[in-house]
Amino acid sequence: MCGIVGYIGRDRAGSVMLEGLKRLEYRGYDSSGMVVSAGNGFEQIKRTGRVVNLEEALAERQLGGQLGISHTRWATHGDVTEANAHPHTSSDGKISLVHNGVIENYSGMKTFLQEKGYTFQSETDSEALCNLIAYHYQKEPRGSVKNAFLEAVRKSLRHVEGTYGIAVICSDYPDELIGARKGSPLIIGIGKGENLLASDVNAITHCTQNVVYLNDNEVVHLKNDDFSITTVSSKNVEAVIHKVDWDTSESELGSYSHFMEKEIFEQPNSLMNGMRGRFSDDGSTAVFGGLNLTPQELRQIDRILFLACGTAWHSCLVAEYLIERFARIPVEVEYASEFRYRNSPLDKNTLVIAISQSGETIDTLGALREAKRKGYRTLAINNSVGSTIARESDGGIYQHAGPEIGVASTKAFTSQIMICAMLALYLGRLRDLSYGDGVDIVKALKQVPEQVHAILKQNEKIEAIAKKYARYEDCLFLGRQLMFPIALEGALKLKEISYIHAEGYPAAEMKHGPIALICEECPSVFLATSGEIFQKSLANVQEVKARKGKVICIATAGCDLPEGLVDDIVIVPECHEIVQPILMSIPIQLFSYHVALARGCDVDKPRNLAKSVTVE
Ligand code: F6R
Repeated sequence: MCGIVGYIGRDRAGSVMLEGLKRLEYRGYDSSGMVVSAGNGFEQIKRTGRVVNLEEALAERQLGGQLGISHTRWATHGDVTEANAHPHTSSDGKISLVHNGVIENYSGMKTFLQEKGYTFQSETDSEALCNLIAYHYQKEPRGSVKNAFLEAVRKSLRHVEGTYGIAVICSDYPDELIGARKGSPLIIGIGKGENLLASDVNAITHCTQNVVYLNDNEVVHLKNDDFSITTVSSKNVEAVIHKVDWDTSESELGSYSHFMEKEIFEQPNSLMNGMRGRFSDDGSTAVFGGLNLTPQELRQIDRILFLACGTAWHSCLVAEYLIERFARIPVEVEYASEFRYRNSPLDKNTLVIAISQSGETIDTLGALREAKRKGYRTLAINNSVGSTIARESDGGIYQHAGPEIGVASTKAFTSQIMICAMLALYLGRLRDLSYGDGVDIVKALKQVPEQVHAILKQNEKIEAIAKKYARYEDCLFLGRQLMFPIALEGALKLKEISYIHAEGYPAAEMKHGPIALICEECPSVFLATSGEIFQKSLANVQEVKARKGKVICIATAGCDLPEGLVDDIVIVPECHEIVQPILMSIPIQLFSYHVALARGCDVDKPRNLAKSVTVE
């Protein structure tokens, strides 16, 4: 949430940062701005709305500069106005700052600074921190201590309650850039004769693949050819440089119209990548390199607690069904935001698993830290190599789905389910799952990319169905057992990108309330799979039809639906139960995508949302 790009080095700060902001726009798109060095001073420009507005405003300017900071905002404190857009500059004009996070004690800070004569232009919490740095700098200006600018930043941060990822510059130090983090991600990009700061690797891979992940309470001091890290309390920190192994073209749109479309169509590959090298030679189980738990230790586990938010939470619900069914280990699923503030009694042999695409979601990170503090073993299922959640968990499994840019999660969701299915298999084979059952599951998993490919070929058909239903303002998604989490995910996908009110329910629960909504104006999407529960699902479809509700049915081949019962139908290949949640997700993603397009919505940047929620 909110994107930061800072630059120091060659005379190209403006253009590097603008490209970075475009790549980071999914983190917030209310407003954007930058400050760059120009002549003997700094030049600032801000615009409300999308980064393209900033780009237009910059079109007639020279986008050089050897130093700069920039920001794309997702509003927390204060409306979407140019005054509230970042960067903020202190009232004495010395310090400029961009900030991601929430300064919880900003109000007291602001009163203190106003009493000292500092003035405020915005309603943001960030401006208080900017003026606080100016205040400490003014007390001990250049020449009074070794590096007065760095000292002022560190001193100010010691007073902050809340979270921050910041980039700061000072007009008296035109060759220095400072960054710091607590709770909000910040990475350092190391180039040749230039260095960068960003809240996400995606923003800097056009300049360098070499990065350092800053940890909480660390402050980095950058020059064009050098950098050093200390803690907020001035202790030296050894930097570890990592190489980002992303192909930069993965973050580009290519021939697709939207990132969401691209990512839906990438799923045969992303699913294949999640499985690559992860099956045993005898083809009966999965193998994982980074669990950091021996099979003996895993056999001691008598409960698993999954923690996540949003779509990743739906993946956890799928994991609950799969692990209980195939590994016979009791599983609980909690919203990370709830878990972190309640005192759930957990057994000492509980394994805690956090699922997060970004690896930076603040609630998931907070919940993981709470579980660690209590002494539980933690694992992470995560798509972003080097993310905070990946680094702070005891072990984990990378999804290898490639960068997900569309705000609505698609390929990350199916890849999380794939990893959970493989984990269920692995844990099952450590317990009671037979060799033969293991072999069947491995075969089923390996077929998934091809089956997903076949479903994607129905894109035009699904688009036609979506257009028929795009005018409705309400929609129910109904499914039983493994299809219940997919119903929840279908409802979330539709509501977040098309703004249609949608709810997901276990189909049988409908009779306990939601059936009151059924009428000609409220269609239902039924997720029906063949198997023992099919006849029960069919009865639920009939209950809706009896009340004149329109039904779109997504069904596996082999479901024996009476002719003419449903209004529209999409068939997915018949498959093993363990992969049904993956295959059944594809039509709901395409359906939501096409409904949103038909309603003229911005599918990649839905209103009020941002990817990677780094504020509580
Ligand atoms: C919805 C969506 C969100 C995320 C949630 C968690 O399409 O993408 O609900 O799933 O914000 O994000 P991660 O997985 O990055 O922790």
